[in-house]
Amino acid sequence: MLVHIKELFQGDVVGKFAYPAFNTQNLETTMGIIAAAEELNVPAIIDVSEGAIKYAGLSTIFEIMATLAIKAKVPVALHMDHGKDVEQLRAGIELGFSSVMIDHSADDVAKNIQDTKELVNFAHAEGAWVQGEIGKIRGSEDWVNVSDAEALLTKPSEALEFCKATGVDTLACSVGTVHGIIKIRGGVTPHVDIKRIGEIYNLVKIPLVLHGASGVDENVIHEVISNGIAIINIDTELRIAFSEALRKSLSDQPEEVDPRHILKPVVEAVKQAAIKKLIQFNTRNIVVSSQ
Ligand code: G3H
Ligand code: 13P
Ligand code: ZN
Repeated sequence: MLVHIKELFQGDVVGKFAYPAFNTQNLETTMGIIAAAEELNVPAIIDVSEGAIKYAGLSTIFEIMATLAIKAKVPVALHMDHGKDVEQLRAGIELGFSSVMIDHSADDVAKNIQDTKELVNFAHAEGAWVQGEIGKIRGSEDWVNVSDAEALLTKPSEALEFCKATGVDTLACSVGTVHGIIKIRGGVTPHVDIKRIGEIYNLVKIPLVLHGASGVDENVIHEVISNGIAIINIDTELRIAFSEALRKSLSDQPEEVDPRHILKPVVEAVKQAAIKKLIQFNTRNIVVSSQ
């Protein structure tokens, strides 16, 4: 069933488990994510980035996500990820995304606060939630040494000021993780600042979101959850599952020309990768009350 993200946060979440927010780009990834959530009978959040919207089209990808979410046997909430384009975020809210992320973290703090606050006003009037970002979460291309990286991390006092000034519903903070494949295949292990997560949560008291979480060690995942992370974004691990399964499927069946047969093992691989994350995130602690 398609649910508003706020329904996932009715009961006690923080400290117990984290909802996965899986990025999708297409039908098959969305099918794999929902099949995983259904297999474990747990809710899920599905995210779409600006890049994926550029690839598929906003209304096309929304309709794919919403149609599958409506049919799902578990609660599924839909979210727009890392939005820089405010007009597109507004259009997404009007289409029916119950949560959007405005990512103006590259701007100075005053501008980030102003833009985020304006979107919060619009979104709340429409009944949607907003995720903001304070601090700068790096991408693989922004890999810098540890002391430079420190400067990009979210400062707890700044997080409090940002939340108070904007009224965001969830907060993405920079606590050491990096977007993309670098920490899986690039030979670097980001240091996740657990203490900082606890300090931020104790001040802001709204669900915190961990970005760039693919490849983060399971023990670290359990610690981030205990300290206030309630949503964990995963894209790269599903991309790896998708692309490896597609390569194998094509080489296993070199004569096959039916995309449905070629893509069946791909959907299954995405499902298995998502199940692994759902288990790591302690989602078995969730009581699915709307069932
Ligand atoms: O953090 C965001 C996702 O990994 C999206 O990546 O912009 O390449 O779609 P993308
Ligand atoms: P990964 O690239 O580590 O999966 O991070 C995904 C993410 O943060 C999407 O917003
Ligand atoms: Zn992210």
